[in-house]
Amino acid sequence: MKLVFSPPPLLLLLYCATQTCGVRIQSNPVINSEGVIQIELEDTVSLLCLADDDSEAHNNKELVWLRNDAVVSLKDENKKSNSSVCISPVIHDDNGATFTCRLSTNATDEASVTLNVIYGPELNGSEQVTAEEESKLFLECDIWANPPVSFVLWTLNGSAVDLLAGGFTVTNGGYTSQLTANSVEKRLHEGTYECTATSPMYGERSKSFSVKVTDKTIKFPLMPMIAGLVVVALTALLAVVSRWKRIMKCCKSCQKQRVRS
Ligand SMILES: *[C@@H]1O[C@H](CO)[C@@H](O)[C@H](O)[C@H]1NC(C)=O
Ligand SMILES: *[C@@H]1O[C@H](CO)[C@@H](O)[C@H](O)[C@H]1NC(C)=O
Ligand SMILES: *[C@@H]1O[C@H](CO)[C@@H](O)[C@H](O)[C@H]1NC(C)=O
Ligand SMILES: *[C@@H]1O[C@H](CO)[C@@H](O)[C@H](O)[C@H]1NC(C)=O
Repeated sequence: MKLVFSPPPLLLLLYCATQTCGVRIQSNPVINSEGVIQIELEDTVSLLCLADDDSEAHNNKELVWLRNDAVVSLKDENKKSNSSVCISPVIHDDNGATFTCRLSTNATDEASVTLNVIYGPELNGSEQVTAEEESKLFLECDIWANPPVSFVLWTLNGSAVDLLAGGFTVTNGGYTSQLTANSVEKRLHEGTYECTATSPMYGERSKSFSVKVTDKTIKFPLMPMIAGLVVVALTALLAVVSRWKRIMKCCKSCQKQRVRS
């Protein structure tokens, strides 16, 4: 059996980047072998940068933290020989962010870590949806997740939606999954829909939609109708004016009649 003690060059480089060379980083949760910290959304990461005993930071030189090349502002007492940074809560935007610690005087002495923020799709609960006969049905589920969801299934009344029979289209993007039907029919489209996303890390999550199909409301074309009414009203007015005398006479005779009776 042969033992090999010299590590391959790549490993040596990684070791240098995340561990020593003047400064090194300790963290909770721990850094994996690729220099990455895996953390759940809204959790807390604490990072501690330590200057080696013989490094310049121990001769009163300062430590600096960078988040993606932007300097993190630190209190003075948090700069000498060791320096801590806390990320709380971790947000979506922290995914892929790199935190680097270095001596303020010597940029060649640095160590860095990258965050891998994991989160599942936010699917839960139930939504009430009403759609008119012959209108468009549009249902949408948020499937944004890290790692990405591996599978999305849409069901209607418990069984997979029949794309052909229902005239459905399913569109899956990185953020959402959408189910559409262009012309709603009560017989085909009313019922309980559910979208279920399968995450390699969080398992299945789903959201349901209770879809009610209502009768088509007849929409009157409003402007032509108003124009029509105006014409009718004017005609009636003209007719009244031209017959005014006759009406007056008529009324007078009515009164006479009433008086007589
Ligand atoms: C960090 O430095 C301070 C003094 O600046 C020291 O008291 C403390 O023990 C150090 N912490 C660690 C973890 O080395
Ligand atoms: C920076 O640190 C490296 C490694 O510790 C050292 O070789 C180099 O001389 C330093 N540079 C300066 C300008 O102090
Ligand atoms: C349900 O999902 C919504 C977003 O779709 C989220 O704001 C809410 O916190 C979730 N509720 C639970 C109990 O997970
Ligand atoms: C789904 O179930 C509901 C309630 O049982 C029923 O009214 C509806 O017609 C069903 N939808 C389809 C498309 O079968």
